Amino acid sequence: MKKIVVLISGGGSNLEAIAKACQTGNIPASIELVISNQDHVKGLERAKKFHLMSKVIEHNNFNSREEFDKALLEQILPIEPDLVVLAGFMRILSNGFTKALEGKLINIHPSLLPDYPGLNTHKQAIENGDLMHGISVHYVSNELDGGPIITQGALKIDPVQSEAKLISRIHKIEHAVYPKVIADIIKGYISLQGDQVKFEAESHFGPNHMEFFNV
Ligand code: GRF
Repeated sequence: MKKIVVLISGGGSNLEAIAKACQTGNIPASIELVISNQDHVKGLERAKKFHLMSKVIEHNNFNSREEFDKALLEQILPIEPDLVVLAGFMRILSNGFTKALEGKLINIHPSLLPDYPGLNTHKQAIENGDLMHGISVHYVSNELDGGPIITQGALKIDPVQSEAKLISRIHKIEHAVYPKVIADIIKGYISLQGDQVKFEAESHFGPNHMEFFNV
């Protein structure tokens, strides 16, 4: 059985979508460990609901980013995971961390990258009067929200839309796309070759893939 580790910081709705897909066999892998850098978050309750092993490693307990990342790796590497999934993990990772997991580390970001790396993407998209917003799934490099893009999902912004409503629409896309990408990676249909994403014919995705969602 292939092994996945999921890193979270908060709500964990993406974790739940991934856990469900593992349960139904849509993702042929098991979540071996969930790590949160925050205690008492909803994501940890969700991990419990799915009987997943979880650990809290609070970044505040470490003197530097490097020391925190080292503590993460000490938990992750012995598992020998096939894939490490960042699912709302709100920490910038050091070069040592991304290097140690090169080709096995993916992230989901709530914007159509390269637009809006970092925080408050929804607010920025609304304030700038953008017509479209969306999500990007990408392999993680040492650049914040950088790294080769695997796929993107887009929606049309309603001109009178609240930020909360936009966030919930974006979540729907994330929950549809992320488990599918993870399944394809686990099945060997998507991989990272150097700095290029390679798609096998069996993959749901392909180069420059962007799907429009009517959510
Ligand atoms: C998601 O929108 C994800 O793209 C971003 O953080 C949010 C996490 O949501 N990185 P959740 O914790 O999975 O509910």
